[in-house]
Amino acid sequence: MARFGADADPEQIVAQLHADGGVIVEGLLSATTLAAINAEVDPWVAAAEPGARQINPLLDAFFGPRTRHVASLTGRSRTFATEVLCHPQLLAVCDRVLLPSCARYQLNIASILDRGPGAEAQMLHRDEDVWIHAPRPRPELQVASIWALVDVTREMGATQVVPGSHRWDRARVPEADEITYADLPAGSAVFYFGSTLHGGGANTTADQWRRAVHLSFCLGWLRTEENNYLGTPPEVAKHLPRLAQELIGYAVHDAIADLGGYLGILDGRDPVDLLQDGTLG
Ligand SMILES: [Fe+2]
Repeated sequence: MARFGADADPEQIVAQLHADGGVIVEGLLSATTLAAINAEVDPWVAAAEPGARQINPLLDAFFGPRTRHVASLTGRSRTFATEVLCHPQLLAVCDRVLLPSCARYQLNIASILDRGPGAEAQMLHRDEDVWIHAPRPRPELQVASIWALVDVTREMGATQVVPGSHRWDRARVPEADEITYADLPAGSAVFYFGSTLHGGGANTTADQWRRAVHLSFCLGWLRTEENNYLGTPPEVAKHLPRLAQELIGYAVHDAIADLGGYLGILDGRDPVDLLQDGTLG
């Protein structure tokens, strides 16, 4: 996979994404920002029980018994909500990939997947399969990213990505030499499409946890994977900047200019305005 620096031209990143389905962007977060996020999530990670999901046995098997989950990060770490959710480089990519197909894109899911020693490789999959009923052909539905909160090596379970697989027939299975591994210095991320085959790698270390964040955005007219209004409720969201509130999903999806209509209104108004004027939260 191609690697870019944090100040790379988003046009080049997007061109590479369309070519390969995944890119690595290094140095997106400063050491200060990383330290702040890690300090804010430390108690949540410490309290997370490896493997506990409980929604469905298939999901339990998919994530495995050695991964600690911390969901709804936008409601749990203000630094994450301001510095990662709103990161201009990721948003520049989403503007170019998602905005042609919606009036506004929105947070799909933001959660820590802290994969511990002994975690087995995840089944390769496409994140967009949560919208399995969406007909094809179709535009990209989702831009996803994995952010390293610590240095992530292949031995620790770096994300496996299959370049080019966003264009493959769905039945095609990759050969071993078609799989790449997104080892990431802390503060770096791999960006990939929802249509790109990928999966968490095996953690073969004795004692190193792979603390990384899945952050993804999807078209604003889709149901999101995590219920972000409950994960970051109005009483928490009202303290965040307006951009974060909009991205979390509080903003209406206004397709009037495209001769469409509104999605997400509350009592005829934009919920972001209600957060701003104190009516909500
Ligand atoms: Fe995934």
